[in-house]
Amino acid sequence: MRNFSVVVLMATSLSACHQSSDLFQKKERSAAPAPGNTPNQAQPPETERPGDTSYIPVAITESFADMRARLVAGKPEAERKQNEMLNARYDMSSRAEANIYMSRGKPVQTGVRVRLRENVTWEQLGQMTPEQIKQQNLFPDGFMPLPHPRHEEGGQVLPQFHIDEIMAAEGRNLLRFDVELDIPDHFLPEFPAPIFLTTRPDLGDVSQGVLITNKNFFEIFDGILTPRQLDGLRLLVTPFAQQQFNVTNDRRTDSPELGISCFDCHANGHTNGATHLDPVTRPQEFRRRLDVPTLRGLNIQRLFGSQRAMKTVEDFTEFEQLGAYFDGDHVTAAKKGFNKLDRALQVAHMAEFQSILDFPPAPKLDINGRLIPAVATSAELRGEELFYGKAECASCHPGPYFTDNSMHDLKAERFFKPQNVNGRLMTSVGPIKTFPLRGIRHSPPYLHDGRLLTLDDTVEFFNLVLELRLTEAEKKDLLAFLYVL
Ligand code: HEC
Ligand code: HEC
Repeated sequence: MRNFSVVVLMATSLSACHQSSDLFQKKERSAAPAPGNTPNQAQPPETERPGDTSYIPVAITESFADMRARLVAGKPEAERKQNEMLNARYDMSSRAEANIYMSRGKPVQTGVRVRLRENVTWEQLGQMTPEQIKQQNLFPDGFMPLPHPRHEEGGQVLPQFHIDEIMAAEGRNLLRFDVELDIPDHFLPEFPAPIFLTTRPDLGDVSQGVLITNKNFFEIFDGILTPRQLDGLRLLVTPFAQQQFNVTNDRRTDSPELGISCFDCHANGHTNGATHLDPVTRPQEFRRRLDVPTLRGLNIQRLFGSQRAMKTVEDFTEFEQLGAYFDGDHVTAAKKGFNKLDRALQVAHMAEFQSILDFPPAPKLDINGRLIPAVATSAELRGEELFYGKAECASCHPGPYFTDNSMHDLKAERFFKPQNVNGRLMTSVGPIKTFPLRGIRHSPPYLHDGRLLTLDDTVEFFNLVLELRLTEAEKKDLLAFLYVL
């Protein structure tokens, strides 16, 4: 850490010495307005330093046609770089050999997908100290932060299957012309996801197997929800203006669009695997990619957002739309038409509905979240013992929901040197919320930025990060336990 602050100081004084060229770069940037939220393209981002400004341009002087043409022209190269990075990091093929399924039958992808560096095995890595792994440059790339599919642009990017479904159901165009989601469908959650309600467990899945939209929600939920919850659900499927999806010339869809709805990412109250950049960090290369979390189990959680750490669902609901929709920039938000929700009425209604979204059933767990021995396999039972014992998982993920409702800094940066990959500066990320592990097989990919594609990857990750020295057999048992949560 001490070294890092020296770097910051040096970089700051360095840029002060070179003020004239710095000014020139700034001028150049404002002449060709930066898209979306691109404060730092012109400078080498390898060093740790503050950004030039926290703001993005409000007055766009480039015509929509020119901006679109420029971004479309850059898309193939951005995609090529991203795919190259992904294929170097991971085995992206579809493999689901364990006969493990999500609620409605989508196979769970299996196998460790993070690629090792040459000439080293997982066993060998597991025996090394963080310092040794760092010095010998052996930390697998897939364990480092994952860049957004077009990191310099950032913003919300949805999977194609959701875009198609919304176009068919509502006629809204959620296709961005500048970027597509980079993770293949087989690594994403089930779609449309089932919906379980804490208030009506007797009904099982209440989604009727369809995507809930503003065209069908009333028919499906009238008679099941209270009027307040029903109104909350209405607002959750109502589009509101957002940074990339709006009716101004500073948008990333061909046609002006009213906006995006909460359920366009938290599809059916779960997640469709859409991605975003965090709204709480600057400059751009430090911003974390965020894999959309499920809204299941909000009722038992006490912290919301991986780093924003808001204390209530109401706070987060209000913040999503005013803050996160606009990258934490209230200046452009005002221009694009943010919608202030009434806290006592609308926010309360939205939170009431979100707070009855239950985890999916876990028939092998008892009331305390412990395995029921009569129905569990011996591998699962051994896995549970490891979870509460040698593997230390339960110190942060205690049952019955497998979260401590706190945040922890896993300090993955102990294992690698800072480096820039596709516009994302790989460095320390600080404390992150302990996401619950109940229902975890239903919400891949894993970690706040979705850098891990399978649960097998998470076991290898924690084996290194916590320096557990698990044997291969122990890793398999632990995995068997994670599948039944
Ligand atoms: C990209 C599409 C996207 C849309 C649209 C969206 N969210 Fe989110 N939501 C996210 C992401 C990403 C996070 C994680 C934020 C973080 O880690 O800081 C999140 C987090 C949340 C959380 C906290 C979950 C947790 O586990 O901590 C709640 C609650 C939430 N969103 C509600 C909403 C509501 C209400 C709306 C509509 C006003 C909405 N979201 C719209 C992507 C989206
Ligand atoms: C020191 C606390 C701590 C311990 C111990 C710990 N975890 Fe975690 N776990 C976290 C935090 C914090 C996150 C979120 C990290 C992130 O998103 O970057 C997390 C995330 C996860 C995730 C991904 C959750 C999601 O929704 O994407 C899985 C899976 C997981 N942990 C499994 C385990 C297993 C298995 C063990 C034991 C081998 C373990 N954890 C031990 C704190 C811990």
